[in-house]
Amino acid sequence: MVLRYGGDYNPELTPESVWDEDIRLMKQARVNLVTVGVFSWALLEPRDGEFEFGWLDRILDKLHAAGIAVDLATATASPPPWLSVAHPETLPEDMFGVRSWPGSRQAYAPTSPIYLAYSRRLVRQMAERYATHPAVVLWHINNELGAHTNLDYGPAAEVAFRTWLQQKYGTIERLNEVWFTQFWSQRYDAFSQVRPPRKAPNWRNPAQLLDFQRFSSDALLSVFLGEKEIVKAVNPDIPVLTNFIGAFKPVNYQQFAPHVDLVSDDSYPDPLDPRSPMLAAFARDLMRSLSGGAPWLLLEQAAGYVNWRPVNTTKRRGQMRAWSLQAVSRGADGIMFFQIRQSRAGAEKFHSGMLPHSGERSRVWRSVVELGADLERISAVEGQRATESRVAILFDWEAWWAIEEGSKPTPIDYYENVIRWYQPLYQANVQVDIIHPSHDLDQYSVLVLPNLYLLSEADATRIAAFVQRGGRLVATYLTGIVDENDHVAESGYLRGLESALGVWIDDFAALAKGAQAGPTSVDVTSETLGDFRGTEWSEYIEVTTAEVVARFCGLDVDGLPAVTRNRHGAGEAWYVATMPDDRTIARIIDGVRRDAGVAAVVEGLPGGVEAARRGDHLFIINQTDAGVVVDVPGRDLLSGRAQGPFDLGPFEALVLTDREES
Ligand code: GAL
Repeated sequence: MVLRYGGDYNPELTPESVWDEDIRLMKQARVNLVTVGVFSWALLEPRDGEFEFGWLDRILDKLHAAGIAVDLATATASPPPWLSVAHPETLPEDMFGVRSWPGSRQAYAPTSPIYLAYSRRLVRQMAERYATHPAVVLWHINNELGAHTNLDYGPAAEVAFRTWLQQKYGTIERLNEVWFTQFWSQRYDAFSQVRPPRKAPNWRNPAQLLDFQRFSSDALLSVFLGEKEIVKAVNPDIPVLTNFIGAFKPVNYQQFAPHVDLVSDDSYPDPLDPRSPMLAAFARDLMRSLSGGAPWLLLEQAAGYVNWRPVNTTKRRGQMRAWSLQAVSRGADGIMFFQIRQSRAGAEKFHSGMLPHSGERSRVWRSVVELGADLERISAVEGQRATESRVAILFDWEAWWAIEEGSKPTPIDYYENVIRWYQPLYQANVQVDIIHPSHDLDQYSVLVLPNLYLLSEADATRIAAFVQRGGRLVATYLTGIVDENDHVAESGYLRGLESALGVWIDDFAALAKGAQAGPTSVDVTSETLGDFRGTEWSEYIEVTTAEVVARFCGLDVDGLPAVTRNRHGAGEAWYVATMPDDRTIARIIDGVRRDAGVAAVVEGLPGGVEAARRGDHLFIINQTDAGVVVDVPGRDLLSGRAQGPFDLGPFEALVLTDREES
């Protein structure tokens, strides 16, 4: 039983004479896994078809001799200059037709047959040489697929998009139907006329945009699958991963996750943002949900500062440890960094490493060594699953793409709105899964649907049945508005959830935003929730069977329902027709989950103190910079303290067990 600890190791960035020193330091920090070779293509294949593996052989052997395992990258993330000089058509193009140039990284069109042929030739070489190397325990396919190049509109994409559409629709008539091309004279006569949705004079066809997002995400998945097939053919026993990037809009990880052997995430919360612990918790809960509750890996984080925000501050004392333990508490079986040794030159020289420019005599290195020791103390958690969540937020990439496509009553920030509803669950330490609407719902007692704009009939029916059986549901405005093709149903809004919710939507009345003329909020009055102000949205709704919990007070919607609840079968469904303030959102969520009998992991902890359970381990993490006292039963594996009450300083944590000391 051992938790993984380590980071990206780029031996090509230091002279070979330093490698032994690197390894000595890794051992000192208890590093047991390193990701090698992510950006090494130009060194591994300096000229077309000429491979130089000597340096990689030597470092892999050294790492193995030191007992450090390797997550070996396929090295396809950054094609070498010679490839784009010989084949400029491998470079991606944006919607304006502007081609990206080499000189950075990820300069490839994901559907370029030439890029795919060259990258796969390299992967084959790598697999044949290293798939049985004893150091290699994981394959790291490509890197952060789509991080920089996710929507490519170039000639290769045009061909691939057509093929994708042909496979999806079969006939051009069907495409015309789904894309509703009778509108604005967009009818196609043949697939050969269809193109990626480049810059156009006015709004582009929304169904085309949605399909292009799907296609582009699929194209990145195909890059992954193509490489995976090659490494698996040589040795099927080595698990394969590629690093996700949290809730990353361009790539549909809900479709991607079933294809990786191990879910892994890269996570760079901003130390300046007070919401960072919550946003990180959301990403971790998403990863745990993507892996079906099984452990996952935190594959990249920063030991201190990053280099890509306008201002990049370092983590405060204890913060890196608190955020690392948070990942473990929410299912991570390993904590890794980008990167082991901070680079001395290049675009990332001011991105922290485990070993900073200031070397061993540094606060960052000391914190890295301490974390290595901490992870050893809690190694019994390895492999343990989190307890089953009873609350889920229904979260869907396709709904995200569709709702943010523009030409809507108001611009919606889907992720931001989801976070508003996640927040009270996070703050109350209620464990929550982040799942797709088609996910099995049996284990859940409460479902939250913030702005689930796109919803299939089948999923709506299953969600309504969930309520009928006794489940509790909270849905907000702009839920169930369109089907998978971005069409509004003949029957109107709410797609099959009307009787569960017991309301009928007559009309939308978006509220002004920012500097726009008009009211940006509306008063809402409620005896049970208290009065509050709604923002972003109001609606003209009528209740059919629901009871009115809160009413708009003012504007044209004066007196109309703003929040409703409806008994449906053995369950209850809430509808919220505006964006309440945080306090009211918390009241709604708290009431619903308590009615459903859903308990927090630990009730009543001081604000900013997190609790999460994995197997027989209870994690308590103080995410604030003030000391707190926590009285919870158990022995703390980190400090060795036998029992509470526990004083927790800023960013300190407990990992409690009731098991006897072994
Ligand atoms: C990731 C990437 C790493 C490194 C890191 C810096 O997106 O995978 O290679 O660039 O960001 O934060």
